[in-house]
Amino acid sequence: MADYLVTGGAGFIGSHLVAHLVDQGHTVRVLDNFSSGNRENLAEVAGSIELIEGDIRDAAQCMSACRDVEVVFHEAAIPSVPTSVDNPAASHDANINGTFNMLMAARDCKCRRLIYAASSSAYGDTPTSPKHEAIMPEPLSPYAVQKLAGEHYARAFYECFGLETLSVRYFNVFGQRQSPKSQYAAAIPAFVTGILAGEPPTVYGDGEQTRDFTFIDNVVHANVLAAEAEETHGECVNVACGEGISVNAVIARINELLGTDVQPEHVAPRQGDVRHSLADISLARKLIGFEPKVLFEDGLRRAIDYYASLVV
Ligand SMILES: NC(=O)c1ccc[n+]([C@@H]2O[C@H](COP(=O)([O-])OP(=O)(O)OC[C@H]3O[C@@H](n4cnc5c(N)ncnc54)[C@H](O)[C@@H]3O)[C@@H](O)[C@H]2O)c1
Repeated sequence: MADYLVTGGAGFIGSHLVAHLVDQGHTVRVLDNFSSGNRENLAEVAGSIELIEGDIRDAAQCMSACRDVEVVFHEAAIPSVPTSVDNPAASHDANINGTFNMLMAARDCKCRRLIYAASSSAYGDTPTSPKHEAIMPEPLSPYAVQKLAGEHYARAFYECFGLETLSVRYFNVFGQRQSPKSQYAAAIPAFVTGILAGEPPTVYGDGEQTRDFTFIDNVVHANVLAAEAEETHGECVNVACGEGISVNAVIARINELLGTDVQPEHVAPRQGDVRHSLADISLARKLIGFEPKVLFEDGLRRAIDYYASLVV
């Protein structure tokens, strides 16, 4: 019997959520195929969790993972815009078919709720700012379409089958354990590790694009609130800090905090990238009582400390 199942629990966001749930005394099961996650991310909780090495593309494995679970946090995905452009079929399979399998399994195992890791990429380049959930989505990449499809499925499973769902649209999450290594590493890990090594970080476009960078603790907090909310009805809510920061400003701040002056190298903008992304978080406040706990500056300091600790 597990209180919680975290799919993708060996990944960046999933592993933080697992650590928090274990710390709160809950029983936690993880389902992960280690395609981008790894066992090291779960090292601190290895003795306290049930770990299933399995795949969300396999319906039978999803059923085994959901058995006797109260709440599912569905984090597993191939979480990358450029990967989805390079290989749309593979990311479709994990992100849409895998999510469908998880919803079916949660329904058939009579789980009480499934919280879905949705993405701000659904908004695309819609001109309205800040982005609120009533805006018509305009996904620009296969990844964004896939994550949005998951939201629609989550809502439909509430409407048709009464499975309580909530989609949590994360905006540019960053923090400890986010990998700087992949070819498509997220901005902050790539910038910090590059600057620490004295190598110019690569910036796509002019660097004036803005993001609502969201420190990981806020995302864990939002998920816990989503699980604890009295009822959920298939809604989707933004989770972010409500602060738009340009890529150039991030690099300048990292240089200030490290006492360095490593200038970026600008290359052509990337296909599928959006220009500005700033969240309106009032619906998350209203529905689940969400309030960001760690703002950008503090989160950046903690992330820098983490990446610096890896190089000593
Ligand atoms: N990081 C962000 O800024 C961000 C923003 C919006 C949404 N999200 C969503 O949050 C979730 C977690 O993202 P992350 O940044 O922690 O990525 P991550 O790559 O660190 O974690 C994803 C995890 O899913 C696992 N996984 C992938 N395919 C799988 C499969 N077929 N079966 C089982 N496990 C599989 C991976 O091994 C990994 O452990 C994803 O759903 C992503 O789309 C992330």
